[in-house]
Amino acid sequence: MKILVVGGGGREHAVIKKLLENREVTKILALPGNAGMEEEKVSLVSGITPTDGEAVAGFAAENAVDYAVVTPDDPLVAGVADALAAKGIPSFGPNKAAAIIEGSKVFSKDLMKKYGIPTAAYEVFDSCEAALEYLETAPIPTVVKADGLALGKGVTVAMTREEAKEAVVSAMEDKVFGASGDKIVIEEFLEGPEVSVLSFTDGKVVKPMVSSMDHKRAGDNDTGPNTGGMGVIAPNPYYTKEIADECMEKIFLPTIEAMNKEGRTFKGCLYFGLMITKDGPKVIEYNCRFGDPETQVVLPLMKSDLLTVMKATTEGTLSETDVQFDDKCACCVIAASDGYPKSYQKGFPLTIPEEIRNNTYVAGAKLNDEGVLVTNGGRVLGVTATADTLEEAISKAYEMVEKVEFENKYFRHDIGQRALKAGREQ
Ligand code: AMP
Ligand code: GLY
Repeated sequence: MKILVVGGGGREHAVIKKLLENREVTKILALPGNAGMEEEKVSLVSGITPTDGEAVAGFAAENAVDYAVVTPDDPLVAGVADALAAKGIPSFGPNKAAAIIEGSKVFSKDLMKKYGIPTAAYEVFDSCEAALEYLETAPIPTVVKADGLALGKGVTVAMTREEAKEAVVSAMEDKVFGASGDKIVIEEFLEGPEVSVLSFTDGKVVKPMVSSMDHKRAGDNDTGPNTGGMGVIAPNPYYTKEIADECMEKIFLPTIEAMNKEGRTFKGCLYFGLMITKDGPKVIEYNCRFGDPETQVVLPLMKSDLLTVMKATTEGTLSETDVQFDDKCACCVIAASDGYPKSYQKGFPLTIPEEIRNNTYVAGAKLNDEGVLVTNGGRVLGVTATADTLEEAISKAYEMVEKVEFENKYFRHDIGQRALKAGREQ
């Protein structure tokens, strides 16, 4: 069986490693992948833009791809799944109509309001003037969100009125996110621990994966700028059985039903970014795909066969399909280029010792002109350990990340510490 995986980061490397556990998989084409994905049976595809549905689907058809897996947000929002379907190629991931749940914050907020799904109170603006006027009297802190995709940078949690106004001006007047900032959402600031829950859905049932806790800030103790994620642990100690049941009843199933009623049936991985507030769990954001780096802890804990589950979401047979996770813990530490997410150097030789290769997910690497594997991004790779306890998983992950070598290696030293503390208090 030949599979096309669209995307090229650590998340895709984790998906590929998991798919390769299925013996029927004979070949994986990674479009574009990255040179650090040195797996048997994997080939990289260059020269095709992942968001170009026609080109991706054309390539898949010409190369007799049996099944495609589309994991990044922008190809999904651009309708790559629709283009594949038009060529008769089944794929994992929502169509364009459903991917809007991530592609437009205005859509997702309005959906939650219409169907009574708990989320922060909000206002929508399509004029900078009106937004600024609203901010004169809005409660502070507040949160300003660009409507469309913005490479994960479209959200400003503003602690002052000035900061909020600056965020509005940069999105709506300076157009730093292009058309994604034509509309904005200004919403109530919520407080509480955050939990990521990725789930499989075929539009009929929802099967949540193990919960996780991302660490978005660049520095130890959650200081410094926001990044794509510097590490992650699973399961998240704040996500108790009781909260999980409440989420299923008040958030997960209502969301799937709401999308069905809107004629936008969602199939694939629906990611619920939740905040456990004193008034119960609320949705901070939806993503129409696997999270990065959450995938790098969730899939190593998955017991069931990933390809089987993915195909069940496509075919609408998820209710009859087992989705099981190990009752263990996982920790992933990201090794980044020093200076990320601001300015950083790349192009340094990267050495991943053989003994940790199975636990390593490469996000940013390429072969240089001499054919040497070198760093090629802010986040270079993630190393994941699983163990019976979180403490053990953390210490194993740190032992392994120490073994990775490149010149300007930087990583946080406190991944999982907050979760350990929370776990002890419960
Ligand atoms: P996002 O880019 O949508 O993942 O949001 C980035 C981060 O902003 C989230 O992980 C939260 O920590 C924070 N955030 C988003 N919305 C709110 C909110 N309404 N109240 C407090 N924090 C928020
Ligand atoms: N880790 C958050 C995301 O994938 O959006």
